[in-house]
Amino acid sequence: MNAQRRIVVLISGRGSNLGALLEARLPLQVVAVISHKADAAGLGLAQEWGIPTRVISAEAYAERTDFDRALQQAIDGFAPDLVVLAGFMRILTPEFVTHYQGRLLNIHPSLLPAFPGLHTHRRALAEGVAVHGCTVHFVTSELDRGPIVAQGVVPVWAGDDEASLAARVLSMEHRLFPHVLRAWVESRWVLEANGQVRWRDDSQEQNLRLLWAGDSQ
Ligand code: GRF
Repeated sequence: MNAQRRIVVLISGRGSNLGALLEARLPLQVVAVISHKADAAGLGLAQEWGIPTRVISAEAYAERTDFDRALQQAIDGFAPDLVVLAGFMRILTPEFVTHYQGRLLNIHPSLLPAFPGLHTHRRALAEGVAVHGCTVHFVTSELDRGPIVAQGVVPVWAGDDEASLAARVLSMEHRLFPHVLRAWVESRWVLEANGQVRWRDDSQEQNLRLLWAGDSQ
């Protein structure tokens, strides 16, 4: 029987996306959860699920490159097939990104390429967009610009503020990331040499690279 695919999850805080991945009981192994913050609540969640955790404290390293090297060493100790950034709020060095080329996935709370970076919900409201959402993409050295795997779309309602919109997007994130990782285990999408992600035969329901939120408020 094929050994289960192995992922390492990097987090910075609450870990609700990590929680969604664990609750989804995906046919893969979360071999470790690593954070640069010792007080990241998601570490406790991982421990509850019996998953090894590590803290590589960013404060302990003067140089970004030194921190990233220590993080890389910790990750490689678990020999993952894929590294998943689930609410990991640090910009990684080009050396680090190159080392994990094609096996470093991130979830971002906007419909990229719109609103890369921070405060995506506030900016979406300020622009008056009618739809917003989240994106799972590969990480490259250009911030939030890597190949898109899948997106989840939510409506923006007239009465929305940053908190209500963030909550709607977060619930979509909790659907999108498990959806993408289950499809990854089942090889239903591939990152092609041209840097594009191709879903196999996207006519079938579960191959959708696009999720829609229900259209009720
Ligand atoms: C999520 O909205 C994610 O898209 C962003 O950071 C937030 C983290 O949430 N990068 P959590 O820690 O997974 O709850």
